[in-house]
Amino acid sequence: TDPILISELANRMAIKSAEVVKKLFEMGMMVTLNEGIDGETAVLIVEEFGHKAKIINAAAVEDVLIEDISDDDEGDLQPRPPVVVVMGHVDHGKTSILDALRKAHVAAGEAGGITQHIGAYMVKLEGGERVVFIDTPGHEAFTSLRARGASMTDVAVLVVAADDGVMPQTIEALNHARAAGVPMIVAVNKMDKVGADPEKVMRQLSEHGVLAEDWGGDTIFVPVSAHTGQGLDELLEMLALQTEILELKANPTRRGKGIVIESRLDRGRGPVATVLVQNGTFKQGDTVVVGSVTGRIRAIVDENAKQHRTAGPSIPFELLGLDSVPEAGQEIFTVESEKQARDIVRYRKDKEREQGSEAQKRASLDELFANM
Ligand code: GTP
Ligand code: MG
Repeated sequence: TDPILISELANRMAIKSAEVVKKLFEMGMMVTLNEGIDGETAVLIVEEFGHKAKIINAAAVEDVLIEDISDDDEGDLQPRPPVVVVMGHVDHGKTSILDALRKAHVAAGEAGGITQHIGAYMVKLEGGERVVFIDTPGHEAFTSLRARGASMTDVAVLVVAADDGVMPQTIEALNHARAAGVPMIVAVNKMDKVGADPEKVMRQLSEHGVLAEDWGGDTIFVPVSAHTGQGLDELLEMLALQTEILELKANPTRRGKGIVIESRLDRGRGPVATVLVQNGTFKQGDTVVVGSVTGRIRAIVDENAKQHRTAGPSIPFELLGLDSVPEAGQEIFTVESEKQARDIVRYRKDKEREQGSEAQKRASLDELFANM
């Protein structure tokens, strides 16, 4: 922040400059009347006199935020792995499909066999390409998690159990994918089961405007079984085709920017945020801001508890080192310095307060008019 003259500061508070100087002396700062003091000290002083401080030259803060969304140079862009969200009705086999693809056993260890959070996993395909999968819960209670899952991905896989058919959260998931504007592939799961009826699934989805390629539409349906492994290779192939068309690119050379998928307070490790990198690269030691939370990246941990020095585009990772637990769904980005981080947080808090009091004012005005 720019320095401000003591006389100017005193003027704005309608007090004598000498009083400001006296206060500064008390705070251990030897200054003269004609000197300038920095913004942070000014804020302290203003608050000492019982006023509310607001940084006026917020331009610097705005600049940071604007730089963060500025365009990348064509030459810096490099291909990035696709991010694929897996959605569908509860128990239709989303986690099982991902387990089969990763040769892991997450589904078996879940409480009550129900996914209650968003999982993010990197899968390395045989050809060496990487795909990032986002697992979402199918239980009806988790609408916001599904919406969040859909909004940060490149492609959606809609899982429908062939024996159960289209159910309420199938439709909900479909609508999230549509709202997010992401292309969708339908995985008709549990093909190994007696009573599996993939045609019924196709018919039911056609009633919701999703028409299979085989029926003259443009949605790919892949019959699969998480249990036998049937169709999983084909599913990956279709995903590869689908994402190739998108030509996904990002700029790994810029400062990291991502979305907090999830956050929690870990007893031993403190605040933990699961971050999906959208652009740039996060590095150990970076100072980050998310909402009004700041911190320095102490560790970058992958889903197998392995530590890394950096995390580039499309990579999901656990971030340790935040001062407190941020709200999930928020944007996180790297800044130049801790001071910049503090400036941004103060700016945001000021704005919040402003909007809060605006809303309050409006509310009381409304009340006033209502009572007239
Ligand atoms: P939520 O996350 O709670 O919405 O469930 P989910 O969609 O992740 O389903 P999950 O993978 O937990 O599987 C639910 C049940 O279906 C489990 O008992 C699985 O073993 C079973 N299941 C999943 N895929 C298949 C399959 O291909 N065939 C058969 N027979 N059972 C399957
Ligand atoms: Mg699950």
